[in-house]
Formats: sequence, structure tokens, C-alpha cells
Amino acid sequence: MSICYVNGSYEEKNSAMISIQDRGFNFSDGVYEVMSFFGNQVINFEKHIKRLEKSLGGLRIQKPLTNYKSLELILKKLIKLNKLDKGFVYLQITRGSSSRNHLFPKLSKPNVVIFTFTAKLDKKLILNGVKVRLTEDLRWKRCDIKSISLLPNVLEKQNAFEEGMYESWQKRKNLITEGSTSNAFIVNRNGFIQTHPANNFILGGVTRDTLIEIAKKNKIKVIEKAFSSSDLFSSKEAFLTSTTAQILPVVTINEKTIGNGKPGQMTQVLIRMYNELVKCQIHE
Ligand code: PDD
Repeated sequence: MSICYVNGSYEEKNSAMISIQDRGFNFSDGVYEVMSFFGNQVINFEKHIKRLEKSLGGLRIQKPLTNYKSLELILKKLIKLNKLDKGFVYLQITRGSSSRNHLFPKLSKPNVVIFTFTAKLDKKLILNGVKVRLTEDLRWKRCDIKSISLLPNVLEKQNAFEEGMYESWQKRKNLITEGSTSNAFIVNRNGFIQTHPANNFILGGVTRDTLIEIAKKNKIKVIEKAFSSSDLFSSKEAFLTSTTAQILPVVTINEKTIGNGKPGQMTQVLIRMYNELVKCQIHE
């Protein structure tokens, strides 16, 4: 049995309901977050909340919960009800339900849906690294909003899968923005970590943000500047980050080898540091 949260009540996931007039369903008019948890500790909770507020503000959706302490309590209750010791929480907030009209409804309240899910991280992906392909970035210019409108991401993730690869890295004017489900990094020719700046062309990943903080704390130089395909092919290492994948080494791009074709040393150091930080948060 799996329990989810829908607009204030806890319900069996398979029978929980939301209106067919939900604006998320009709217009993709909503935002979401994916958070990980260990025990009942939600990792990087404050960072996720900060981004959620930014996304809601970007779409002018009113905040459904006046204080985020109550959201934290809901998440902890849901984790307990589902008897999970680790996993992920999916949280979606849409503008609400009303008869279909592009204009914002005057009276509707946001719909809030939260559920937990589990996904095993394949250790082989960390040990051996993953393959990535390059593609054009077909998305809009507010990728910083974590909108539930994900069609280009879905199509490019599927294209990668069908070509036997883990991820598609998107590019605008030959500059890599980010992956279809993750942020993109290289260790450049000078040995510095480089990634696209957190502007409107990428989703400012919580894992990205955390990794940059860890690197800087450990005096590893980070440059937030977009890199080109040629920078990528001449890089020493490449890796990607997301809440669900954490940090994954990237060993080939369009079937071309990066570095020596094995997970890079810097990437492995960062993975260790990231795991340490998560452990610290679990024991907080
Ligand atoms: N996706 N960029 C995109 C386009 C993403 O979809 C994601 C994560 C990230 C990484 O963000 P974070 O580190 O905060 O998870 C970057 C989530 C996991 C998803 O859609 O399932």
C-alpha cells in the first residue's frame, strides 16, 4: 500500500483523485520538486523550498502553505506512513482546478499532490560512468522555473535511452546548458570544475548548488561559465548531478571518450565529499 497526500488528506495512491479540470492536467500550469530522504530526514530541504518559492513566484501561483514548517511535517508524516527508510518525495503544485480558460481563474486554490517513490541507484553507473549524447536545447527561456511542462526533456531522455545512453546534454548556440534531467559539468583543461551559470537557461539544481559549495569549501576552483562542445571534448572529466542520480561520472559524449574513458579522479573525490555531506545531514 502506498499513501499520498492530496490537498490536505492522506489517501491510497492508486485511488487518489484530482479533477480533470486541474490546470496542471490541462495546461501544465504548475511546478514540482523532487527531494531525497534518508530516515525521516529530507536532504537539502531548505534549498528545495527556496527553489519551490522561486518557481511559484515565476508562475504567479499563490503559496498553498503559509509556512514551510507545515510542509516539512507533511513530508515526514508521509515518509512514516509509507514505512520507507530511504527514497524520494515528489511534490507538485498547480494553479488549481477550474473550467478550461487560459486566463488565471479568480477563485480556485492551488492543488497540492505529494507522493513518495523509490528508485535504486545502479552502483555500476557510478563505478563505470555513463554515456551522454548532445542535442539542441528546444526548451523555453525560463528553464530556471521547475515547471511540470517537461516535453522536450521527456523526448530527449527517451532519445538517449533508445540510443543506449543515459542522458542527453542540450546545447544553445553550441554552448551546453544542461541535461534533460540533470546538470552538466566538466573538469576543464586547467583542472577547474566548469558548469553553466545558474541563469534562465538552466534549472539551478539543488545537487549542483551543493556540489559547488562543497568544492569551494575544499578550495577546488569552480567556474560558472558555459562550455562549448569543443571544451567538452577536450575536457579531463565530465559528470552530471541530480537529486535522483546524485553525481554520475560521464565517460563518453556522442561515443567519443572523455579523458581515459573511466570515471575521473576529481569526480570520485566529489562523490565522496557529497556522500559525507549527506551522511552529516542524516545525523543532524
Ligand atoms: N530533475 N536539470 C533538470 C532539467 C532536471 O530535471 C533536474 C532534476 C536537474 C537537477 O536538479 P536537482 O539537483 O535539484 O535534482 C537539473 C528531477 C530529479 C526530476 O525531474 O526527476
